[in-house]
Amino acid sequence: MHNHSIDKERLPKHIAIIMDGNGRWAKERGQDRIFGHHEGVLSVREVVNVAGEIGIEYLTLYAFSTENWNRPKAEVDALMELLVATIRKEAEELNRKNVRLHVIGDFAALPVLCQKEMQEAIDITAANTGINLILALSYSAKWELINAVKQIAEKAKTGLLNPEDITDEIFHNHLCTSAFPDPELMIRTSGESRISNFLLYQLAYSELYFTPIHWPDFRKEQFLDAIADYQLRERRFGKTSEQIQP
Ligand code: IPE
Ligand code: IPE
Ligand code: MG
Repeated sequence: MHNHSIDKERLPKHIAIIMDGNGRWAKERGQDRIFGHHEGVLSVREVVNVAGEIGIEYLTLYAFSTENWNRPKAEVDALMELLVATIRKEAEELNRKNVRLHVIGDFAALPVLCQKEMQEAIDITAANTGINLILALSYSAKWELINAVKQIAEKAKTGLLNPEDITDEIFHNHLCTSAFPDPELMIRTSGESRISNFLLYQLAYSELYFTPIHWPDFRKEQFLDAIADYQLRERRFGKTSEQIQP
């Protein structure tokens, strides 16, 4: 597919990506899995830049899931170190490019140094008006949904909220993505066709795009291909095709 077919007037506002396949990409090259994670950072940089340039407003990247804590300790440690080193290295550049950084997930579960670096980067970019870069770290949708239910139940118990009045909007307000619209497009690399506990509520009507390309090979061209593919879809939201044709 040729990405010159992209219509800048019909861009998704929010793209979410499951960045998968770093380990296999490295293994295929006879390298350690960690090498794949390092290469993956280059893809992150390129995709964030392109997304910002073409005018995507929100980009959510699944960087580390709740389940990823169950990986061998050496890999978890390497990933956390890579995260700290990358944020330390890129924060100024993100700021210069007017990127605003956010984190969703169980922030308190991250190593203290990681929390500190992330918080600093969030703070220095807080007034930026360009693309919102949302990193999902120690994130899982079931964790997020259960948290939302606990907060809502607590409010109902203390009389702050009447169960009858709970709406989609109220529920959304208790998610960690409450400040962001739902993604119109969700991309997963590496050939796996699953959601892996990512944004279960927010993806209710997203267009899903699965590509066999491993994350370290997913660059500008592949990103634009995904958007071009999205623009070929007819989003019906339960209606008939005839109802939505202009
Ligand atoms: C994605 O690549 C990065 C993280 C989950 C942190 P993987 O590390 O899952 O790579 P594969 O899927 O094993 O190839
Ligand atoms: C999903 O990838 C999580 C991230 C990309 C951070 P995984 O590689 O952990 O997913 P599964 O376990 O293969 O579904
Ligand atoms: Mg994987």
